[in-house]
Amino acid sequence: MHKIVDDFSKTVVVPEQGIRLASEPEPKVREKYINELDRVLITKGCLDARIKGLAKEIEQGFADVDEITCVVVLKGGMFFAADLIRVLDERSKLRTRLDFIRCSSYGDRSYSSGSVQMYQLDAIDGKNVLLIEDIVDTGGTLKTLQNYLREKGKNFKTCVLLDKGIASSVKVDFIGFRIPRVFVGGYGLDYAGMYRGLPEIVVIKKELLK
Ligand code: IMP
Repeated sequence: MHKIVDDFSKTVVVPEQGIRLASEPEPKVREKYINELDRVLITKGCLDARIKGLAKEIEQGFADVDEITCVVVLKGGMFFAADLIRVLDERSKLRTRLDFIRCSSYGDRSYSSGSVQMYQLDAIDGKNVLLIEDIVDTGGTLKTLQNYLREKGKNFKTCVLLDKGIASSVKVDFIGFRIPRVFVGGYGLDYAGMYRGLPEIVVIKKELLK
């Protein structure tokens, strides 16, 4: 069961730089979602800035290659990957290919059912693979995906936008933000299919969660 902490800290940490975003003025949740969303956790401006930093880290991480195949985990990783891949192509020396994989374990709940369904992607044999995922919570989903992809790709690395910091058993090469253990939506992430289109990362009210 996904346990939601009551007194979570607002602090969001960018790894490596140690930037704390909590000191920024707190942006407001849109009126139409006011009864469902608790707060904006990460603004679009912070996401954009961090993605530029991540692209640099990824370029350094793949220093010996000139082409990578980005495997995006649907549906949640879609918005993050769209922005990240465009920054990689605009600003880095890396040439990018794009592929998708789908993995579902949450259904309409806020905790994982434990079983992971996977949908096939194009051949990635021998490719330099960057797996792009929205969020790591228990790490179950990512571990399954990594086990599946690692044996196929040549040079395999993982990038996640958000890390709740509890999945000690999975290795992630590039992390956008470490966040408290709250259920978040927006920027591709959903709860029961909603909130994906919001430009920022928002915290969903815990009274709403099943
Ligand atoms: P894990 O297997 O427990 O690490 O969960 C990872 C998957 O669960 C992600 O790919 C998301 O689809 C989903 N997930 C985990 N936490 C959240 C959240 O806070 N908001 C939205 N989806 C989440």
